[in-house]
Amino acid sequence: MRVALHVNVDHVATLRQARGTAYPDPVEAAFACERAGADGITVHLREDQRHIQPRDVRVLRETVRGTFNLEMASADATVALALEVLPHHVTLVPERREERTTEGGLDAVGQRKTLGPVIARLRAAGIKVSLFIAPDDAQIDASRALGADQIELHTGDYANAKGAALAHELAALAKGAARAHALGLRVAAGHGLTVANVGAVAAIDEVVELNIGHAIVADAVIGGMAGAVRAMRRAIARGRAGR
Ligand code: PXP
Repeated sequence: MRVALHVNVDHVATLRQARGTAYPDPVEAAFACERAGADGITVHLREDQRHIQPRDVRVLRETVRGTFNLEMASADATVALALEVLPHHVTLVPERREERTTEGGLDAVGQRKTLGPVIARLRAAGIKVSLFIAPDDAQIDASRALGADQIELHTGDYANAKGAALAHELAALAKGAARAHALGLRVAAGHGLTVANVGAVAAIDEVVELNIGHAIVADAVIGGMAGAVRAMRRAIARGRAGR
């Protein structure tokens, strides 16, 4: 089966927020991603709104043609926004204000009592719910018991691993994917994936969706730099020539 690629456009918004300008707009980036073959768009509305804003979520819900996946913590205000906007998927993630990015998986075992009612409300509204977890048996089983439709395996440890640890982390992902699939869960994966390391994860049969952001935005910045400089040179030359 083909693996769906959902592009996370958070860091387009990071660049916009750094200046408080209207550009670059993650909505425009999302159009470009889908035109280039992305199957969906993912954004993480963090509680501190450091990159994606509620406006982005509302506009993307109207403009994304494929799957629109909203990543969020299970805080009341974000759940209310999800129930208003009705993204196709919600991915529940843990969130700590001081972290640079989502550093670990959700504790579906320890947070059963709080997650259960949130998952039920989102699913009752017709939203597919995914839980971002480590490839750990107890977390996978708890996700199933909580009624999630999907899990997203956290590939951060695999992405950071070197040497013998790499094979170990990859084996853990493959084992987790097989277990989740056998339980009837749809399996996604993401975090820290790059052109260099995505292949081995894409080779895991049960993984049917990848969520990738930072590396794609980084490659777009570097790949687009020469063209942007040429465009600026042309604009300067036109100005100088009085045209
Ligand atoms: N999946 C989830 C649940 C995430 O929280 C993130 C980071 O926001 C990603 C995927 C994408 O990770 P990266 O930006 O490293 O590709």
